[in-house]
Amino acid sequence: MIRHAIVMISIISAAMSAAADPVGVRAKGGHPEYLFLEKAPRSEAPATAQKLARAVIAGRMIIFAYSRKLTDPALGDKGFTGEFFEGQWRAALEGELIDATPSQRRMLEKLFWAGRQVIDNNQDRLNVKGIAWKNFLPAKWEREMGQVFTARTGIIIKQPGRNYRSPVNVPDEVERSAMQHYVNAGRDENRPQTAFATMGKQAVYRHMEPIRLMDACLSCHGKPKGEPDMLGYARDGLDAGDLIGLMSVTVAVED
Ligand code: HEC
Repeated sequence: MIRHAIVMISIISAAMSAAADPVGVRAKGGHPEYLFLEKAPRSEAPATAQKLARAVIAGRMIIFAYSRKLTDPALGDKGFTGEFFEGQWRAALEGELIDATPSQRRMLEKLFWAGRQVIDNNQDRLNVKGIAWKNFLPAKWEREMGQVFTARTGIIIKQPGRNYRSPVNVPDEVERSAMQHYVNAGRDENRPQTAFATMGKQAVYRHMEPIRLMDACLSCHGKPKGEPDMLGYARDGLDAGDLIGLMSVTVAVED
């Protein structure tokens, strides 16, 4: 009888404490180290993260440079294939490749592969005729490319946003404070924020640098704040030169 009562009480209290746990929170811990498939030697990690960040920014700039063509409603097939994009991207990065170490070269090759996949995957969208804004932007390419690249390598590439539109771009605490630093320090502060850290048990190197707005971005991220842009999101109310987000790279490190 008493035994029964004790069992009942412990079941009830376990249920009550489970009910008291908040839901929808980030789980603690992380992957085992062997799942970070690509790792940079510790001494190379800062240069590796910098190279990856530069490469992604160069990819963004190519899509940006073609945005007039990509948003031309009169055009159907735009010829902006994965192969075409990769050719442009490699040409823009010749300098980065020249002094790349073997591990950096391997990572950059996987980055080219991921970037090309995403352009190929978006062909139907890109080639729609009759509408200008088909929801293909540098930031969308980067989000999708980052996820493909992370899936293959374990290296995290993301672009946390000041007022993120995609939930994939939610900043973590470190990214949020890096963004706050850039907002407080003003437009001339562009030095990357970097740190060695851990993810679960894996040693990592983090590199974050600001993404700033240009005039061409203001139709969506500019003023008037809160007014819908052509894709239906509220404008951010920012000016050219203001911080809109971060290029954030996290590379696993091995000693
Ligand atoms: C046509 C409207 C439009 C223009 C122009 C535009 N953006 Fe965006 N931006 C978006 C949308 C929509 C997203 C969400 C993309 C996604 O993840 O699918 C976004 C996302 C971003 C993000 C990631 C954070 C977030 O909000 O999710 C950054 C950083 C960013 N844009 C920077 C820029 C910069 C820099 C420019 C100019 C070179 C620019 N954008 C031009 C609409 C725009």
